[in-house]
Amino acid sequence: RRSKPVDRQNEEGDLLAHIVVTTDASIVVPTYKEAENIPLVIDRVHRLRDRLGVDLELLFMDDDSRDGSVETVAACGFDWVRMIVRTENRGLSPAVIDGFRAARHPILICMDCDLSHPPEAIPHMILALNAGQQFVIGSRYVPGGSTDDTWGLFRWLNSAVATLLARPLTSARDPMSGFFALRKADFDAADSLSPVGYKIGLELIVKCGFENVGEVPIHFTDRQHGESKLSVKEQLKYIQHLRRLYIHQFGNAMHFLQFMVVGASGVVVNLSVLTVLVALGCPDTISLAGGILVSLVTNFLLNRRFTFSYARQNKVLPQFLGFLAASVVGMVVNYSVALTLRTHVFGSSHAALYGAALVGILCGMVFNFLGNRYLVFRQ
Ligand code: GDD
Repeated sequence: RRSKPVDRQNEEGDLLAHIVVTTDASIVVPTYKEAENIPLVIDRVHRLRDRLGVDLELLFMDDDSRDGSVETVAACGFDWVRMIVRTENRGLSPAVIDGFRAARHPILICMDCDLSHPPEAIPHMILALNAGQQFVIGSRYVPGGSTDDTWGLFRWLNSAVATLLARPLTSARDPMSGFFALRKADFDAADSLSPVGYKIGLELIVKCGFENVGEVPIHFTDRQHGESKLSVKEQLKYIQHLRRLYIHQFGNAMHFLQFMVVGASGVVVNLSVLTVLVALGCPDTISLAGGILVSLVTNFLLNRRFTFSYARQNKVLPQFLGFLAASVVGMVVNYSVALTLRTHVFGSSHAALYGAALVGILCGMVFNFLGNRYLVFRQ
């Protein structure tokens, strides 16, 4: 992973020597307290612009940093550099989305302001788009890509786990990267973008349904000035974001999976309550009933909060009664299927009884799920 830094090669000029780019592009840079880095970014992009001969717009999307960033941009005097100051709906991803909307050119690039992303890779990204890719990532994890040697074990692990969790959504090697390019027309056609946290690139890949995702190797340099704003809170938001993207991508399969996980948690709750009540000296009848009742309530609450969270704003009581009714129907289906299979299909052996019971459980569960999904927790 730690090959020769691509950005340093680029700064020397060897990788750009034969690149001919003809499409104008807008580089959108989200910023928060980056006054020290802004002149460095302008300088690097300025040099690139001069060499390419196309119009590169540089658009800083600042969340009201009040650290001199506005003055720094104004002082540069270039008409192709702009800063938009945002005071509402703050955050990295909304800033990028607003920037893409305000951008003037047909190709959009998203890049960090801390120079961890080499602007010199931009021509390669534009070429990849022009060659037919729908989305191009400046990637640390393809051959030729690398990161500074300063990454500790925790940061590596963190990045690796986050990337692994995104694997079912995209085959891209570095979907966590905040350095990427796409066509403005594709961005404009995307609907229902609702990123939470940092991973706007992943959001676009999934929501735009991009299948041709290309990756251009970059060397990721650690920031020299200021500090990262990627807090633990932002990292937890990633889990929430992933859940939404999984639901978008896999629809009912994802709802069903969550329903099963909640069901499994109900077994644990049921047995735990049973154990506690028995230990407290309650009679078995009460202990068994207590376990069932408490697990029904926790299953309901967890399904309402997570599995069918889209219906959370609806009234609780009718939902709870509907949930109980669906559970009863599920049990009746379970019993009827198992009994029918046992009597008419599977024969009378001991194994057949268990086979019939298992199929019954599965059918009951599916009915229970469908009842909840389409009747109880309606969209
Ligand atoms: N407008 C705005 N609002 N910009 C923000 C905000 C915000 O709330 N938070 C961060 N930014 C800007 C920073 O100023 C910087 O230009 C860029 O977004 C990235 O933020 P950092 O805080 O520097 O991110 P990082 O270096 O920890 O994370 C990097 O690695 C991730 C993958 O590991 C970035 O490259 C991410 O884009 C990338 O996803």
